[in-house]
Amino acid sequence: MTESPRTALPSLNSPPGDRLEIVSAWDADTPYQAWRPQILVPPAFRQAEAPRVFVVVNQKGGAGKTTSAVELAAAWAAAGLRVRVIDADHQEAALSVWLLPQYPDGSPRHSLRSLFFDECSLAEATYPTLFAGVDVVPSGVDLSRVEYERPIGAEQALAAAIAQEAKEAGGRSPYDVTLIDGAPSLGLVTVAALTAADEALVPIKVGGLDMKGMASLHRTIRSVQKKTNPKLRVGAVLLTAWDKSGFARQLAAKVSTDYPEAAVIPVRRSIRAAEAPLAEQPIRLYAPEAAPAGDYDQAAAVILPTTGAAA
Ligand SMILES: Nc1ncnc2c1ncn2[C@@H]1O[C@H](COP(=O)(O)OP(=O)(O)OP(=O)(O)O)[C@@H](O)[C@H]1O
Ligand SMILES: [Mg+2]
Repeated sequence: MTESPRTALPSLNSPPGDRLEIVSAWDADTPYQAWRPQILVPPAFRQAEAPRVFVVVNQKGGAGKTTSAVELAAAWAAAGLRVRVIDADHQEAALSVWLLPQYPDGSPRHSLRSLFFDECSLAEATYPTLFAGVDVVPSGVDLSRVEYERPIGAEQALAAAIAQEAKEAGGRSPYDVTLIDGAPSLGLVTVAALTAADEALVPIKVGGLDMKGMASLHRTIRSVQKKTNPKLRVGAVLLTAWDKSGFARQLAAKVSTDYPEAAVIPVRRSIRAAEAPLAEQPIRLYAPEAAPAGDYDQAAAVILPTTGAAA
């Protein structure tokens, strides 16, 4: 294989004043003008331990799923973990364009679709990216074939592949963290991703909230918990492109009632977040000083702490 040099993802040195305060309950009495974004870590929240499989899920388009998957991956890789990101979205393949897979010369190019059709193993569909510690399972538009051809065992295919790989590696996944970037739909691939995950992370864009959509996501998660994956839990809700407003605060309060065991984490709005994919770099590398880089760094440390990474 031709090895490209991989860029190390940096640690961040944001000043303490720039970091979000961590609280265990919202202060409902502060008028919103005086309210600062805070990370809510409720008493019922449990931190994750490696190895862990996360699915970043919300069927609403543009909620911040891909951004969250890339930035959390970058944060954990910067803390020294081995991270794999799986692109489970056939519609835009945004993740596979952002984190370009480094295909070896001369061998067939696999993807998540190949795995569903038993054409390769999970390891064979995993490629290095240009960033140290981050590997990717790419997807393209042909992943949609899974939705209409419905290969046998599709719901369980990803869970089985992850389990098989861990078994072959001596009982533990070769990756500390697997992050599955979900599609904006609740189709078969999303159900397979939810079935494979230990934990769901739900990004919600403050300006794009859709109550009906939230209710149907809730129902899908419940149904997966009942039928295919009883261990699934919602670990965190990320309020993406967060801006101070009375509405943002109401939304935060609603989300913390809907998901009482989840950490609720604002990720501040920044134009840098929209620019980074065009530069084909995580925000953490493209604009380490930008608020979302720091907010995702804190989010990662809250969700799955690593030695040396302060929450
Ligand atoms: N913190 C932020 N500040 C500003 N813009 C943001 C932020 N987070 C995400 N965005 C922008 O919002 C848009 C949607 O984000 P993203 O692609 O991550 O969402 P998605 O849920 O993966 O979308 P899709 O459902 O289409 O897959 C992108 O243009 C992204 O750059
Ligand atoms: Mg996306």
